[in-house]
Amino acid sequence: MAPKAHITPVVDSTSVFKDGLFDGKVLFCTGGGSGICKDMTRAVMRHGADAIIVGRNLERLKASAEELSKGTGRRCLPVQGDVRQPKAVQEAVAKAVEAFGRIDFVICGAAGNFLAPISGLSENAFRTVIEIDTLGTYNTIKATLPHVRVSKGSYIHVSATLHYKGTPYQIHVSAAKAAVDAISAVLAVEEGPHGIRSNVIAPGPIGGTEGMDRLGTKGADGLQNIRGIPAGRVGDVRDISNTTVFLFSDAASFITGHVIVVDGGNEHLRTFGLPYPEAVLDPQSVKALIKPRL
Ligand code: COA
Repeated sequence: MAPKAHITPVVDSTSVFKDGLFDGKVLFCTGGGSGICKDMTRAVMRHGADAIIVGRNLERLKASAEELSKGTGRRCLPVQGDVRQPKAVQEAVAKAVEAFGRIDFVICGAAGNFLAPISGLSENAFRTVIEIDTLGTYNTIKATLPHVRVSKGSYIHVSATLHYKGTPYQIHVSAAKAAVDAISAVLAVEEGPHGIRSNVIAPGPIGGTEGMDRLGTKGADGLQNIRGIPAGRVGDVRDISNTTVFLFSDAASFITGHVIVVDGGNEHLRTFGLPYPEAVLDPQSVKALIKPRL
């Protein structure tokens, strides 16, 4: 009988990284009111940082800020603002600096997504996602940069993997995220000499997130077949948070300008039609499928 596939365990950052890692640091996070970015904020706060979370829905932000700060001894400030409006981001930055006096870490995470074919996507719909993801990232960088220069801090941009290939119904997000990747690379090389680092986290399929809900089809949970994920499971928000803690920590001080794909190996899999993971767990089981040597 073929051995069972290993399922990579999900761990919390606190079991790997020390508690006071980010004591005295301040995180500015767009999109921190929900999903992946909320959990990234949670993790950075759990290691000692205060945070400001920025989004459009103030009620949701307030509830998240309360939840995130509860029992941590850290402060989380919710600020309403649309990243498409440079002035709104500038005002959020001013509030962060007024409240905390500094900004060390920035997560550019605000994003928009839905499934639509080119034929069903209006010019305005395409522009809307470019404005949220790409211009929103630029607006956030512009507004935070003077403060991040002072702290010699670090940026993480939340991107995706879908633009590495032609993903149907995702022309808007593919274009937007490719631009985000490019923005991060330029930020890394221009601002490296000022002591700033910039990296991208590209999550693969992450379970239980709004993004995944939006990309799901009716009757399915939107997650790719886990048989195509070498790590044996779909992603968990903590997988992204753990990467965040590492990238913001001094352990990553020589890592900048990179895209870190966090997808359990999903993006690298090509099987030539062999059943996966059976072919690697039990080569004998697929022997009959392989042509004999010529
Ligand atoms: N299919 C096709 N077009 C769509 C669409 C869909 N599912 N959803 C929205 N649009 C179009 C709208 O029709 C509109 O175009 P139009 O003016 O030509 O009709 C355009 O997109 C803008 O929509 P609107 O609802 O006015 O924008 P908004 O600024 O209120 O919302 C979105 C932005 C559309 C990105 C919305 O999905 C959103 O708020 N997303 C944030 C949360 C999110 O996506 N999280 C997941 C991150 S991975």
